[in-house]
Amino acid sequence: MLAARPRGTGDILPGEVEKWRRLEDLIRRICREYGYAEIRTPVFEHTELFRRGVGETTDIVEKEMYTFTDRGGRSITLRPEGTAPVVRAYVENGLYNRPQPVKLFYVGPMFRYDRPQAGRFRQFHQFGVEVFGSDAPAIDAEVIAMAVDFCARAGLSDLELHLNSLGCPECRPVLREKLAHFFRRREAELCPDCRERLERNPLRILDCKEERCRNAGKDAPTSLGCLCHKCAGHFQSVKRCLDRLQVSYLENGRLVRGLDYYTGTAFEIMTRDTGAQSSIGGGGRYDGLVEACGGPPTPRIGYAFGLERLILAGEKQGTAVPESSAPPVFIATAGEKAGEAAFELLFKLRRAGLPAGMDYLGRSLKAQMKYAGKAGIRFVLIIGDDELARGLAVVRDMASGGQEEVSLEEVAAYLALCLENIPAGERQRP
Ligand code: HAM
Repeated sequence: MLAARPRGTGDILPGEVEKWRRLEDLIRRICREYGYAEIRTPVFEHTELFRRGVGETTDIVEKEMYTFTDRGGRSITLRPEGTAPVVRAYVENGLYNRPQPVKLFYVGPMFRYDRPQAGRFRQFHQFGVEVFGSDAPAIDAEVIAMAVDFCARAGLSDLELHLNSLGCPECRPVLREKLAHFFRRREAELCPDCRERLERNPLRILDCKEERCRNAGKDAPTSLGCLCHKCAGHFQSVKRCLDRLQVSYLENGRLVRGLDYYTGTAFEIMTRDTGAQSSIGGGGRYDGLVEACGGPPTPRIGYAFGLERLILAGEKQGTAVPESSAPPVFIATAGEKAGEAAFELLFKLRRAGLPAGMDYLGRSLKAQMKYAGKAGIRFVLIIGDDELARGLAVVRDMASGGQEEVSLEEVAAYLALCLENIPAGERQRP
């Protein structure tokens, strides 16, 4: 159908865009404070990057990638996540030669052929950070505390931080074997996909979205019970650092995350305010991925948030107040001459940095005032032939109903002063 968007995609309309911009402004501000530089990678990559990077047995690679063959016969995939592309860019551009640690952030659209529902889309947006070059537990804690700080500053409350360690290549086989043993005895309860994963990658069963698999995994062995001495020590230190920063967390030894690259610390931030999709962001350590992409051994940690889920949670919690997108100043006119003068004045106001609009539909003065009321305009300049002859405009504050006559020469300075004294969020009439 020509007039329908593809399932799982969304239009971000005027009125909504302002919320996105506020969130993106906060992201840039907080990344500057924490010392992260922005990186932008292509929206599509060679399919192989995600197969190897995200993991062959993950839902993302098995079921959710938008993959196609381009005209040159190459297999291409729209990025389902941002981490593997950032690692590719780090290796390909030799960023390992820069002073370490290298701290990067990104914001942009991702694509997963997921089953659309509230908070789950096929095109969605992520804000993510990745730190290369440090294996200190303090950097794990810094990254996690930054994610928590970000949520607090986005106005979100009632969040739960789930924390786990998935262990290193030394302790992971112990966990795999314990899980395989546990689930073999419950094979009949598992979905067909998980039955197949049982031997290939039993950890994935803990991440299955099917309810019967979730039930089957309720008493499964936890990764925390399988950690080697080094990983257990690292995890203890991360927790100590978080305690020192007064960041509260819940230990969750069955948190595995949906991607295969994680080693060591893994975390997820959950809320009940996005419906069934309780995770608004998550991440962890993935020390092996740079080597897998052909770079030198590099410890790394990162996370990503879904912007749609942040906005949804903000709306449910009443933190994201919609803003009118109309400029705060409108010139309403009566008569042809006044209309011409208003056209010139409009550009004078805009050149003075004042967002302003006027009528282009030939509406009566009454209809223009009605429009200004509906659109949430804060100040209306009323100019009729009589005002024009006297070289002035009537400035009406639509919030208070008060009005004043101001000379056309001084009206720009007058409005600038009025707007300066009103906080940005109140410049439109409530
Ligand atoms: P992820 O958990 O797959 O991790 O995704 C991170 C966040 O993206 C989720 O918590 C969720 O908010 C959002 N998200 C994922 N899928 C969808 C969807 N279909 N619709 C709407 N939002 C969605 C990663 O992607 C890792 N790359 C995170 C990371 C960075 N780990 C280390 N560095």
